[in-house]
Amino acid sequence: MTHTRIKDLLNSTDFGKEFIAKGWIRTFRNNQFLAINDGSCLGNLQVVIGINVFDEKTIKKLHTGASVAVKGVLIESQGKGQRVELKASELEVLGESDPDKFPLQPKKHSLEFLREIAHLRFRTNTFNAIFKVRNALAFAVHQFFNERGFVYIHTPIITGSDAEGAGEMFQVTNLDLDNLPRNEAGQIDYKEDFFGKATNLTVSGQLEGELAAMALGNIYTFGPTFRAENSNTTRHLAEFWMIEPEMAFYDIHDNMDLAEELMKYVIRVALDRCPEEIEFLRNRQLEEDKQKPQAERSEMDLVAKLQFILENDFERVTYTDAVEILKRSKPNQKKQFKYLIDDWGVDLQSEHERYLVEKHFKKPVILIDYPADIKAFYMRQNEVDEHGRRTVAAMDILFPGIGEIVGGSQREERYDVLTQRMAEMNIPSKEMDWFLDTRRFGTAPHAGFGLGFERLVLFVTGMGNIRDVIPFPRYPNNAEF
Ligand code: 4AD
Ligand code: MG
Repeated sequence: MTHTRIKDLLNSTDFGKEFIAKGWIRTFRNNQFLAINDGSCLGNLQVVIGINVFDEKTIKKLHTGASVAVKGVLIESQGKGQRVELKASELEVLGESDPDKFPLQPKKHSLEFLREIAHLRFRTNTFNAIFKVRNALAFAVHQFFNERGFVYIHTPIITGSDAEGAGEMFQVTNLDLDNLPRNEAGQIDYKEDFFGKATNLTVSGQLEGELAAMALGNIYTFGPTFRAENSNTTRHLAEFWMIEPEMAFYDIHDNMDLAEELMKYVIRVALDRCPEEIEFLRNRQLEEDKQKPQAERSEMDLVAKLQFILENDFERVTYTDAVEILKRSKPNQKKQFKYLIDDWGVDLQSEHERYLVEKHFKKPVILIDYPADIKAFYMRQNEVDEHGRRTVAAMDILFPGIGEIVGGSQREERYDVLTQRMAEMNIPSKEMDWFLDTRRFGTAPHAGFGLGFERLVLFVTGMGNIRDVIPFPRYPNNAEF
């Protein structure tokens, strides 16, 4: 007899039939009621332990955290709080758990504490719900693109290029760091390194994705990316997953349409496939909000917020218009922003992004046409405007509570314009010859974007810290587990 998932038992009406259930003990009450959970759902199965049915030695091992196998008949529950229960006839403790040492107790633990025991936090309902939603979102991403004929491309993790030109890379080497080989000039001799040159962990699969799009048409990547930026924020990780579609013959408007469609699609799937988990997370957030001052509470509950995204068109605004709005805004006039907006050309901080989304437009915003100088070299240059301002066809999607969730652009497909920009920005074009070949041979307009997967999961779960939506977060001074 194989065991049955607790999720199926809780939905079963096969009363009087014998089943085996396996799971971990959440609580053991009155030496009689065992609540076990096997991860298949948030609910626990109540197991009734008859008095004097099992020997004292077994009963003494029934502690929170222990794993058990139970055989018994499914009955309609007499008690409140559950519909069914299993009347145990056989009971085996598979793995004991010392109650004095097991760190998870049947009470509320802080998220900070749970982060320190990330190997065990999977066993809480909060993290069960988060990782179920994360899974549904990942699956939805693949479904979205495959329904539309996009090809999933696996771009390299180890790379010799710096896609974003931002220099925030983790180096990959097997050189002996205590005894580095040096050339005559005294510099490290990377010819001796594993790949015969300096290499890094990728910050983005975009550049390789562009190569594939220039033959396959529409592609996407979905893989881990790494950034050594020292940002200790609730929205940054040093290792995060990014979804990067790249489409031949798309312009910036096609790109925005696709991104908006993707966001709505995956949020709808999460609502459809994870109603129990999202309801749990909604209540969790309402509870958390009760502890906060009125001004910091969420304006909408989680479900209303997700519905709101589905029902509204994203506002499309140019950077130039956004800067005008920000300049005139109350927090700017009253000097409440940490970074005041006084000039065209400055990069927007998340406080500004969130003002635009949460206070001004009150819906998701797609900001386009950013100053060329604050964006990557590969973005397509717009016509210089009447004030002599140089902008690029960039698009960032800003979400409430998150700020930037998507960053993308139409790409510079014109060889001369691109190489000139690379020279201006000190991007070594010799090492990027392979990238430039796409512009030499049959270049074509194309566009793409990157969606930060954890920022998406953060939004859909209503959690407050990105470190709680990836199983083992990596951030400055932390690479545990
Ligand atoms: O805006 P970014 O840097 O864009 C790119 O990497 C482009 N190559 C994408 C493309 O056009 N194919 O990053 C894209 C998204 C951001 O909008 C954000 O959601 C997420 O990746 N992101 C991070 N998420 C977590 N931690 C970090 N440190 C992140 N940095 C960026
Ligand atoms: Mg960006």
